Amino acid sequence: MTGILGAMREEVEALVEASGGDRREKGSLTEYHLGRIEGKDVVIAKSGVGKVLSALSAAELIMRYRPERLIFAGIAGGIKEGLNIGDLVVGTDCLQYDMDVRGLGYPVGAIPFTPYREIPGDPELLRIMESYRGEDYAVHFGRVLTGDTFVTDRDSPLRQKLFSELDGAVVEMEGASVALTARVYNVPVLVLRFVSDAADGRAPKNFQEFLAVASTHLVGVLSHLLRRI
Ligand code: ADE
Repeated sequence: MTGILGAMREEVEALVEASGGDRREKGSLTEYHLGRIEGKDVVIAKSGVGKVLSALSAAELIMRYRPERLIFAGIAGGIKEGLNIGDLVVGTDCLQYDMDVRGLGYPVGAIPFTPYREIPGDPELLRIMESYRGEDYAVHFGRVLTGDTFVTDRDSPLRQKLFSELDGAVVEMEGASVALTARVYNVPVLVLRFVSDAADGRAPKNFQEFLAVASTHLVGVLSHLLRRI
């Protein structure tokens, strides 16, 4: 079985529909939709926004369904040059940019007293994504930066840090926490993000408009992945 999580209902809606998701089970945090895509068993749920809810949802999904792999999918702010709104970014790795213990000598993102900093995407899932071509959008590979802030200011020191010091392709609020949870439970993980905005002053408007588009495109991406596993 493949677990699929998205932060908001709008992000996973089209996937639930495509899976026939008529079987529902209630968890403590969220509702799970069980179905099939490309003949493969899937369990799909909305995690909620931010690092805490997404990590908790990932843990609950893993404990309940023991998935062979976990995909986190949705939208993100594009920060790397060359990204356009609508493009897909496949996460080569994920890092919590707001885990900052430089005061004790750790690099940004490193979780003190653990081996964890950037969490790589599963190599096999990344390999499958190399052959994916979007119908009318570009597909990029890059680093996903995660933190509990919706980034809206192009000139803020935070955005500059994400781009120049941490080499981020996109910024969002769940990928690294889900990837860390999957890593702790030994579940292969991949984060997929459609660029909804440029993490600037227009972000909130673009974001709302773009949710349904991303959800529809995700059906194509997940079909490609599931056909090949
Ligand atoms: N998700 C989509 N756009 C975002 C942004 N600008 N900042 C954080 N998360 C996002």
